[in-house]
Amino acid sequence: MILAAKDINTFYGASHILQDVSFEVEKGEVVALLGRNGVGKTTTLRSVMGLTPPRTGSIMFKEKELTGKPAYAISWLGIAYMPDDLRIFPDLTCEENLEIARRLSRNAGYWSRERVEDLFPVLHARKKQKGANLSGGEKKMLSLGRALMANPELILLDEPSEGLAPLIVKNLAEVIKKIREQNMTLLLADQNLKFCRKVSDRGYILEKGRIAHSGTMADIWKDEDVIKKYLVL
Ligand SMILES: Nc1ncnc2c1ncn2[C@@H]1O[C@H](COP(=O)(O)OP(=O)(O)OP(=O)(O)O)[C@@H](O)[C@H]1O
Ligand SMILES: [Mg+2]
Repeated sequence: MILAAKDINTFYGASHILQDVSFEVEKGEVVALLGRNGVGKTTTLRSVMGLTPPRTGSIMFKEKELTGKPAYAISWLGIAYMPDDLRIFPDLTCEENLEIARRLSRNAGYWSRERVEDLFPVLHARKKQKGANLSGGEKKMLSLGRALMANPELILLDEPSEGLAPLIVKNLAEVIKKIREQNMTLLLADQNLKFCRKVSDRGYILEKGRIAHSGTMADIWKDEDVIKKYLVL
């Protein structure tokens, strides 16, 4: 097990958002967090990353307890995060955005700017463009590229397919397959069930801050009742 959350409870002020959430991710797996708007997918990723730390419960990453650690320490342990607002630097060029992600990381490894640009040729073509001038899809690729540049062991992706044209979503699914071939583990939050089925092995479905259902993506995909009850097609 590379990541194991056990009974986490996360709050925004007095609002109790995540309620006894538990889930596990094996090394090399791609796991999806599913569920409708506002059920707690982002909060779950933020809890792992230490951005909204759980008040109770445990999150183990490679036998180390993450709760209580600040976000930078969690990233140094080998977890990278692509937030839903992408957080690229608008005034820096595409290549500077990638290089900075490398410099902020303490982990060396397979992913270099050349390899990231091979994976996303558009980032090479646009390398002198400022972040602000990239399209929505390009920004998303740059943000994922930045996560790779940190050479993490686990990547958390918030809504990777959201807002992308169908052809780009298809392309992103291929890219995620290539990324996992490099021994990467991914935990993604996404509402696009079709995309999640393509890229993930297993899924956890959230409903009002609780895990309502979990299973292989193949089983979830076939389960009409579960889809109707908790998801949007
Ligand atoms: N900063 C915040 N302060 C207070 N409440 C928040 C904050 N961020 C999120 N919430 C609330 O927490 C709950 C879970 O939100 P979260 O963003 O985790 O859901 P989500 O599943 O990621 O939704 P979406 O599909 O819209 O991204 C929602 O009820 C939301 O209104
Ligand atoms: Mg969200």
